[in-house]
Amino acid sequence: MTDPNQPIEALLAEKRVFPPSRDFHEQAIVRDVAIYAKANKDPEAFWAEAAQSLDWFQKWDKVLDWKPPQARWFVGGKINVSHNCLDRHVATWRRNKAAIIWEGEPGEERVLTYADLYREVNKFANVLKRLGVKKGDRVTIYMPMVPELPIALLACARIGAPHSVVFGGFSAESLRDRINDAQSKIVITADGSYRRGQIVPLKRNVDAALQGCPCVESVILLRRLGETASIHVQAGRDHWWHRLMADAPSYCQPEVMDSEDPLFVLYTSGTTAKPKGILHTTAGYLLGASLTHKWVFDVKEEDVFWCTADIGWVTGHSYIVYGPLANGTTGLMYEGSPDWPEKDRWWALIEKYRVNILYTAPTAIRAFMRWGEKYPNSHDLSSLRLLGSVGEPINPEAWMWYHEAIGKGRCPIVDTWWQTETGMILISPLPGITTTKPGSATFPLPGINADVVDEAARSVPLGGGGYLVLKSPWPAMARTIYGDQDRYVEVYWKRFGKNVYFAGDGCKRDEEGYFWLLGRVDDVMNVAGHRISTMEVESALVDHPEVAEAAVIGKKDEIKGEAIAAFVTLKEGSTASPDKMNELRQHVVKKIGPIARPDNIYFAAELPKTRSGKIMRRLLRDIAEGRALGDTTTLADPAVVAVLRGQYEEG
Ligand code: WTA
Repeated sequence: MTDPNQPIEALLAEKRVFPPSRDFHEQAIVRDVAIYAKANKDPEAFWAEAAQSLDWFQKWDKVLDWKPPQARWFVGGKINVSHNCLDRHVATWRRNKAAIIWEGEPGEERVLTYADLYREVNKFANVLKRLGVKKGDRVTIYMPMVPELPIALLACARIGAPHSVVFGGFSAESLRDRINDAQSKIVITADGSYRRGQIVPLKRNVDAALQGCPCVESVILLRRLGETASIHVQAGRDHWWHRLMADAPSYCQPEVMDSEDPLFVLYTSGTTAKPKGILHTTAGYLLGASLTHKWVFDVKEEDVFWCTADIGWVTGHSYIVYGPLANGTTGLMYEGSPDWPEKDRWWALIEKYRVNILYTAPTAIRAFMRWGEKYPNSHDLSSLRLLGSVGEPINPEAWMWYHEAIGKGRCPIVDTWWQTETGMILISPLPGITTTKPGSATFPLPGINADVVDEAARSVPLGGGGYLVLKSPWPAMARTIYGDQDRYVEVYWKRFGKNVYFAGDGCKRDEEGYFWLLGRVDDVMNVAGHRISTMEVESALVDHPEVAEAAVIGKKDEIKGEAIAAFVTLKEGSTASPDKMNELRQHVVKKIGPIARPDNIYFAAELPKTRSGKIMRRLLRDIAEGRALGDTTTLADPAVVAVLRGQYEEG
């Protein structure tokens, strides 16, 4: 949550520049800067030409039908995503090329070639069909980072059943809400997964969630932990993955999908307590994910590409599953955490599998920075040739460390700005062309019409800051919020007019037109690269019987970007104590999941409010970050702040 008018002179004073090396430029997939002008001149022709890279059952009649804010891309086209990710590769020499190289946290290794993946996806698509899943039915997936997860996604895509992946770090209650919102018939899960040597009880969470999900008919259960896991299998409802697969037919005809048929729903936090089911459709999404994967990461046929995200987030959807597989490339997939069993696990993986391209988040980079260079230095990282960053603004210090300690000064860095809603990277360097600056995502990609505007929707001249907006549609844009078109229009297409997409981020441009992203301008926090709504955490807190009122803010954190701090007033008769604090933190974990656990909870007799009764979050942030207090003239009772601050400092 940023004030877009805050001074960022420090950032803009960043004078270091990193042009691509001649060697990198000469071998890059995109090396002609004319691509920007070409895309600008005729965007529809540009996207139509790009769409030739996909395999169509039937070509489109019209590239774009734009009735703001509704876009339809490649109208009339017929296509199947799983066919594009598998069938067309197994028909070539790529048949025996590694599609997914996987390593489990305990150390197991598996390599799935395109032929392996094709076989498993076909069989699993037949399993889904046998359980009654039809085109258009939603399937919720709550799984660990194992190869069966992309298999499940692709099988859904094959039969035209939109998937809704729920990240394993969400609680049973969050899972229940997402299943009900999507009205899924089927849930796919596992007995559990590993995280830092501990077991994550996925099936137990599913059992708890399903007590409140009458729409669910069947559960497919993957054995990940093995015979020893004590789990409950409900006869008639729960089916073991391996049993269903044992006699599934090996070919399933891919469903002929319309360009605009839904591919998936992915829930993300907004400014209210209810998450939004972002809906993506088939052709435009696949084009955006595959094209940007190739152009931004300069991925070649022989490369090993590693995106460290979880498939529970959009980054994993676009850059572990759909982009890389559509392009027929090889990806590394790792199940666990970076510091297990030691803090060098990632560097060991890069050395072992000769990873060429690494795509990760600033929060991870800052953690490695703190742990020190001895971990990366103990491994051979010479296979790396490009580094990527995503999820939050990367501070210049972390950028420089990434560049030097990991890239050894040799690898271009692509800082990629995008969102669940955008489906694909929109602002990023093209590594063979763009001169980078540490901390800047540089420029909108070819064909992307981004701008920075003020409150009145006027474009802010270079050198100034405001709100990041997109002024033309792009193929992978979200089409709606599942089941809530009004909210879709309200959140994204109202503030600056129905032609203008409001991203919710603050942004400045320097005199040379470089974009510097500043963080969210709404009540959405970015905690370790995860989007969490302040309202969601507040409503989890007030759900506790002893809490009267709660205000939640994102507090600056050196590693996580933001950490969650909560200010809570208790009901009469309840007393604040360290035990109560732990109880409340646990309550949030139960309601939302471990990713939303507040770092700090401060008890207050009253929260600072304006005379009209609005909680003044800005003041709470000032208190939490130890700053001089901003304007308090609208505060109903200034004494409240003094008391709070005293407590905070004690805390
Ligand atoms: C933030 C993740 C600065 C931003 C792909 C956005 C970034 C939100 C960057 C979307 C970046 C993502 N620089 N900020 N390179 N990338 N963000 O939906 O605030 O999980 O609105 O998608 O993350 O988060 P989401």
